[in-house]
Amino acid sequence: MSQSNLNLANKSTGSVECLGQKFPSEEVRREHFLKLVAQKLKDSEFCKIEGFPIGKDEDILAVSDPPYCTACPNPWLADFVKGYGTPFDPKKPYHREPFAADVSEGENHPINNAHSYHTKVPHRAIMKYIPHYTQPGEVVFDGFCGTGMTGVATQLCANRTEVQELGYRVQDEGTILNEEGKPFFKLGARRAIPNDLSPAATFIGSR
Ligand SMILES: C[S@@+](CC[C@H](N)C(=O)[O-])C[C@H]1O[C@@H](n2cnc3c(N)ncnc32)[C@H](O)[C@@H]1O
Repeated sequence: MSQSNLNLANKSTGSVECLGQKFPSEEVRREHFLKLVAQKLKDSEFCKIEGFPIGKDEDILAVSDPPYCTACPNPWLADFVKGYGTPFDPKKPYHREPFAADVSEGENHPINNAHSYHTKVPHRAIMKYIPHYTQPGEVVFDGFCGTGMTGVATQLCANRTEVQELGYRVQDEGTILNEEGKPFFKLGARRAIPNDLSPAATFIGSR
C-alpha cells in the first residue's frame, strides 16, 4: 500500500478554511501564519520558553508550516484545543479498563520505512490504544511524538482497510468489533497534537 492511498495529506489546491479564517490557497494561508510566527520570534518572553530551539529565525520559519506545524512552541495550541477539545465534565462518566493486549507489530510497513528514526513506534501498535480511550473527533496529545506516528495513527482510525488489517471486523455503520465479536470502538479520525523537543522529529512528523 502506498502512502498516497492512505490519504494522509489532504492538502487542498483551492480555497481553504483554517482556524475560522478563509484563504484562497494553502500558500496564502501559510504566508499569513508565517508572518505571525515571525512577529512572535521577536518576542523575548516567547523565546524564553524552556526548550526553545537554538537556531536562526529564518531557519525556524523555513521548516514551519503554521498553524499546523511550527519548529518552536506553537502559538495556536490553545486555539486548537478550544476549537476541538471538550471541557472535562465530572458529571459525564468516563471509565475505561486499562488497555492490555498484544500490540507487537512488524516494522516493514511503508509508512515505517518512509524515513528512519531511532525510536520509531509502528503506527499500527498505537492505533490499538487510541480508539479504546477516545471517540472520533476527540483530541489526542502526544508530548513525545518523535516522527509523529501517533498523528498517523489518529488519522488512520478512520481508514476501514487499515483497521481491518489490524484484525478487527468493521460493521457498515462504522462500529468495530473485537476478537470476541463485541462492539469495541468507532471508526473515525481523532485530532492529534504531536509535540517534540527535536525540530528534526517534528519536521519529519509534519510531512
Ligand atoms: C521514544 S521517542 C518517540 C518516538 C515516536 N513514538 C515515533 O514513533 O517516532 C521519544 C521522543 O521524546 C523526545 N523528547 C525527549 N525529551 C523531551 C521533552 N522534554 N519534551 C519533548 N520531547 C522530548 C525525543 O526527542 C524523542 O523524539
